[in-house]
Amino acid sequence: MAPTSSDEQRPDEAVAPYGTGSASTPRTARVRVHHLAQAKERGEHFAMLTAYDQYTARIFDEAGIEMLLIGDSAANNVYGHETSLPVTVDELIPLVRAVATSAPHALIVADFPFGSYEASPAQAIATGVRFLKEGLAHAVKLEGGAYYADTVRAMVQAGIPVMAHIGFTPQSEHALGGYRVQGRGDDAARLIEDAKALESAGAFCVLMEMVPAATAAAVDAALTVPTIGIGAGNATTGQVLVWQDMAGLRGGPGVKVAKFVKQYADLRTALLDAARQYHDEVRTGQFPGPEHSF
Ligand code: KIV
Repeated sequence: MAPTSSDEQRPDEAVAPYGTGSASTPRTARVRVHHLAQAKERGEHFAMLTAYDQYTARIFDEAGIEMLLIGDSAANNVYGHETSLPVTVDELIPLVRAVATSAPHALIVADFPFGSYEASPAQAIATGVRFLKEGLAHAVKLEGGAYYADTVRAMVQAGIPVMAHIGFTPQSEHALGGYRVQGRGDDAARLIEDAKALESAGAFCVLMEMVPAATAAAVDAALTVPTIGIGAGNATTGQVLVWQDMAGLRGGPGVKVAKFVKQYADLRTALLDAARQYHDEVRTGQFPGPEHSF
């Protein structure tokens, strides 16, 4: 969607908004919702990662990641809970703000935690306003299907861009009977209807988690807005992973890694080795040496 007048087009919007850019076309623009729609129109893909702090936000932004999600998965990956259910808006807002102020290019998406939007559209608007005003997010994400269409509509009317999350929705893990693939067989039709209802309500993007690749492809084909997948095959417009999974920080004895995760690094081993070496050098009196002393 091109700006409609030169007044609306800031100089930085003339260059490539996604990817890492190049010397001739540096990535100086902020990724916006309409850039994601353009990506789908052009048959391009984009990437989202979770981030919960300034260093990862800066690094992922520098790498060209188009969207950063401050997921309610902070419950597990930051606060150490078993599920995503306990995390609160008050606990997420400082993380959202840290990421938003550290990433100059990525679109920042704040995740609605369990209990922060289900009661009414008014509750959802109030939570969305907090994430945009106090957290400096650019958009929010909520879990749920067609049932939340009125909520999404009300938020979009209030000026809050909404990403909808369907398929396996971790906040409902007790209702769904655990981590289970959704949208198999006849259930695919329900997922398509959910996605269409959310698109009609104004969602700018639909995220699908743990959905068969064929179902996710059918959902993507049924929608005009872009889709994002996690465990949903490769026909979606974008992909998302939790960064600790992507970089291999989460792992070790007894930790199960989901089938849909690809580990692009082994940060756990790198950190473990570094911490062990530091420990040894402190215990043996090698650190600090003269070069680290005043
Ligand atoms: O909270 C989160 O990290 C998420 C992703 C798994 C999509 O919702």
